[in-house]
Amino acid sequence: MPYELKPLRIGPLEIDFPVVLAALASYSDLPYRLICRACGAPYGATAAMLDRQMLLDGKLRDRLVRLDAADHPIAGQIMGNDPAVMARAAVILRDMGFDVIDLNFACPVKKVVAKKRGGHLMERPDLALEIVRAVREAVPDRPVTLKLRRAFREKDGTSGAFWRISRGAFEAGAAAIAVHARSVEQKYRGQADWGFLARVKSEFPDRTVIGSGDVHTALDALRMIEQTGVDGVLAARGAIGNPWLFRQARDLAAGREPFQPGLAEQRQLINRHLRLAGDLYGPRRGLLTLRNFGIRYARLHPHPAKVRAAFINVKTEEDWRAVMETWYGG
Ligand SMILES: Cc1cc2nc3c(=O)[nH]c(=O)nc-3n(C[C@H](O)[C@H](O)[C@H](O)COP(=O)(O)O)c2cc1C
Repeated sequence: MPYELKPLRIGPLEIDFPVVLAALASYSDLPYRLICRACGAPYGATAAMLDRQMLLDGKLRDRLVRLDAADHPIAGQIMGNDPAVMARAAVILRDMGFDVIDLNFACPVKKVVAKKRGGHLMERPDLALEIVRAVREAVPDRPVTLKLRRAFREKDGTSGAFWRISRGAFEAGAAAIAVHARSVEQKYRGQADWGFLARVKSEFPDRTVIGSGDVHTALDALRMIEQTGVDGVLAARGAIGNPWLFRQARDLAAGREPFQPGLAEQRQLINRHLRLAGDLYGPRRGLLTLRNFGIRYARLHPHPAKVRAAFINVKTEEDWRAVMETWYGG
């Protein structure tokens, strides 16, 4: 049955389809974003980038922020805890051509939280809101969005901070919030609480709320919209190794049978991805990057365990060619 989906609004931007690529450290780099775009993703975000890193000229920053005409609209995601530094980083990203500035208050990685960044801000609503206001003021001409978790801890009532941050951020002019329906403490374990997403949307019926958590398939993405009323959905782990998820979601939404890539399509896309990674990182690092993706692409192959093992063992271009010939016919 076709779904009636609305475009996703982020400030002045109208994104034609509401299933978009999540920020994913080690994955949502320029090559993979271009691959996902080619498969129907209408919007995406960089992985979380350290605010201070944005202030430094250099090769690492250049690779992180590299943009492409085919990769718009695009959000640059920053992470930090000093409102002034976050604001300067936002200006730099704006000047480089990012369409949206996304603030990460969600990352649960131990060393990030220990340094009082990312998910730590879910315990510091006042500081989080200072950051939102400083960034809004610094880039009034770009939509500012937030990535939040539903709470810091499971049980001690830190979800109060969620409501303070989300309400305060909208009052300060944030264009959208994306909510990962797990606590920071939960990291990626257990089920995401879609009931919480429904509560957030009913609390903010006229604002843009994007849901995240347990979107493993295209059908999950459409179900999340249907069940919770969110305006958009982040495809995260479900899109790693399956960039076709976006096309499949578009198919399902239109009432079509979802596209299933055959081996020839998989081969073509993986080879294209390798070329894009080589362009950005150079041949050696490009190959190692693609090995990581190959391990994830293997899940769509009829022999996933064997193909995964074969990708894990790739060290040279020759090894790569052998895997492609053996398992993908060329
Ligand atoms: C490997 C990995 C890296 C991630 N990196 C980021 C990141 O840099 N910024 C961010 O906001 N979220 C990041 N996330 C969180 C995802 O965007 C998403 O919110 C989360 O995985 C929940 O969705 P899922 O259960 O459908 O995977 C990451 C998740 C994974 C698995």
